[in-house]
Amino acid sequence: MDHIPIIALAEAYAKDKMKLYDPGHDWWHVLRVRKLSISINMIENIADPLILDLAAILHDVADSKFNNSEAYAELENFLESTGVPGLNDRLPGIIKNVSFSNKNKSGNLSDPVLMVLQDADRLDAIGAIGIARAFSYGSSRNNPIYLPPDEHGAMEPSTVRHFYDKLLRIKDLMNTDTGRKMAGERHKFLDTYLEQFYREWNV
Ligand code: ADP
Ligand code: NI
Repeated sequence: MDHIPIIALAEAYAKDKMKLYDPGHDWWHVLRVRKLSISINMIENIADPLILDLAAILHDVADSKFNNSEAYAELENFLESTGVPGLNDRLPGIIKNVSFSNKNKSGNLSDPVLMVLQDADRLDAIGAIGIARAFSYGSSRNNPIYLPPDEHGAMEPSTVRHFYDKLLRIKDLMNTDTGRKMAGERHKFLDTYLEQFYREWNV
């Protein structure tokens, strides 16, 4: 199998599909996730590098925040059109399961490509980049930056609440030891950021 044309086709397909997404899900997100996947897999050595790279390139093309359910059929048509046998048996399943928000996971939940890619995608949601992405997504939906808790401690939805709903939980959800180590430093930065945020808020 000649790898280069498949990678180039997938890159062109993903760039086109993602061109109207928010800046937190732009092509740079894909490039960071590809590099993180490669770094994790260099140490873990568990995933087929070509399938991992293709999955990283395509992992957000059917994201339900920006697409309807037809996006998966479209992805399957694209994979079929490459003429590479076997891609449709594996990639759509990995891509469906990588999403944090997908609660209806099915298929091979311990696929090594999924383990590495999901860690890479989650790492890009925490640390300094993760904070930038959260506020970017929040502002694309016109969500408030922060709403202080009511007298019972309940917090209305805001981007700061998203830290508690998702970002601060990520370090305990990592699949690989390498991903877990990488998440530690980024997690600490979230804590530092929130401390400073509240110091400034409560001035
Ligand atoms: P996944 O793509 O794994 O389903 P998400 O789409 O939930 O994960 O997250 C992708 C990015 O969008 C992350 O950086 C995340 O922080 C950001 N994001 C998603 N939902 C929100 C939200 N309600 N407020 C702020 N950022 C969000
Ligand atoms: Ni992603």
